Amino acid sequence: MHSAQAPADLSAQVAAICAAHLGREGPMLPILHDVQHAFGHVPEAALPVIALALNVTTAEVHGVVSFYHDFRDAPAGRHVVKICRAEACQAMGANDLADAAKARLGVDWHGTTTDGSVTLEPVYCLGLCACGPAALVDGVVVGRVDKARLDAILEEAGA
Ligand code: FES
Repeated sequence: MHSAQAPADLSAQVAAICAAHLGREGPMLPILHDVQHAFGHVPEAALPVIALALNVTTAEVHGVVSFYHDFRDAPAGRHVVKICRAEACQAMGANDLADAAKARLGVDWHGTTTDGSVTLEPVYCLGLCACGPAALVDGVVVGRVDKARLDAILEEAGA
């Protein structure tokens, strides 16, 4: 992450999101989800604003963002390809598939190709365990993803 000064409008927007959740129990996750929804990711500049609202340290907010795979600290690419890393899919070769995707895209997990076309993310079970390896391509579940199908998916995504 790069350190960044929060622009006033970002601060105001994040502060408003925080205010909307302050009365509830465990407001941190709903706030982070709303911030990601509003900005497409959780900007680093939002963290101190959230910390101030919740009376915690920025490091604590950062810890939560890093812990949950759903949160991004940078904008995603035009397409998001998630490969299942849970047990049933691993038994069907998901690790090799992930390695092939990383090699082709030149990124690691959570990385985005330099042309901004694809973000690669891990996911932990898509409920399609009998048809592994499974992937989620722009929100659509795809089963039995072998290397040929993966190539077709990435080709289609422009990677
Ligand atoms: S383990 Fe991959 S979909 Fe369930």
